[in-house]
Amino acid sequence: MNFPALLIEQLRRAQNLVALTGAGISAESGLSTFRDAQTGLWSKFRPEELATAEAFERDPKFVQDWYAWRRENALEAQPNAGHLALAEMEKRAPELLLVTQNVDGLHVRAGSKRMVELHGNIHRFRCFESDCPSDNFDIENGRCRSCGGHLRPDVVWFGEMLPTDALETAITAAENCDVFFSIGTSSVVYPAADLWRRAKDNGATVIEINKDPTPLTPLADYSFLGKAGEILPALVDQIWIHQTKRAN
Ligand code: OAD
Repeated sequence: MNFPALLIEQLRRAQNLVALTGAGISAESGLSTFRDAQTGLWSKFRPEELATAEAFERDPKFVQDWYAWRRENALEAQPNAGHLALAEMEKRAPELLLVTQNVDGLHVRAGSKRMVELHGNIHRFRCFESDCPSDNFDIENGRCRSCGGHLRPDVVWFGEMLPTDALETAITAAENCDVFFSIGTSSVVYPAADLWRRAKDNGATVIEINKDPTPLTPLADYSFLGKAGEILPALVDQIWIHQTKRAN
């Protein structure tokens, strides 16, 4: 795969990079995206029945079971070449912040360390009733031992705020980076979908890697249509690994 010479130059010179990922990066690990027409989770399930506090209040068991199913799928999945390429990029590029909308934990399992999870993590739990300490949870029965309330997954549901620290870190990094990657995300869910614009308004080069066109595609500086698990390893190899080999 050949990348434009100007892009290679920009990446080699970049000091601060941000990579935003979405469900598409985990698709090659066998996990469903949300909005793909035939296979996306939101083509089979109604978000208002599964991903809102009101849905949980109505039927906690139903929601808990759905997240337990997704948690199992995530645990059975393995990080793919795209996740691994981003972990490799972190080791070789000067400063990379990985910002993910994914809750599956695959980036951490691939070795990424400098990252923020904007939408939480499906492997963690919270007490639904109040702010009870997490070391007193009966995970198996989905109950908080401190107050007897139900446990919910520690993910962001529709209508909820994103974790403040994670969002602030992501915004600051986007506004101060030289290069912003948008990878495997449909770029329609805010505030994540706005991060590339903050980067571009501050002079960054915006690169999209996605299987299908998105609202970002015509506005990005570079858009690569294809699988993240194929494009990212080729890019990391050409920009950083190949360069190191040449220097040695
Ligand atoms: P979407 O399902 O909206 O978008 C996934 C994108 O990945 C689509 O544009 C696909 O074309 C693309 N894609 C699929 N396979 C790919 C591959 N192998 N390589 C590259 N791209 C691929 O998922 P998100 O953008 O992550 O929120 O959705 C954002 C948020 O909406 C999610 O975090 C979730 C959902 O509601 C919450 O749960 C809060």
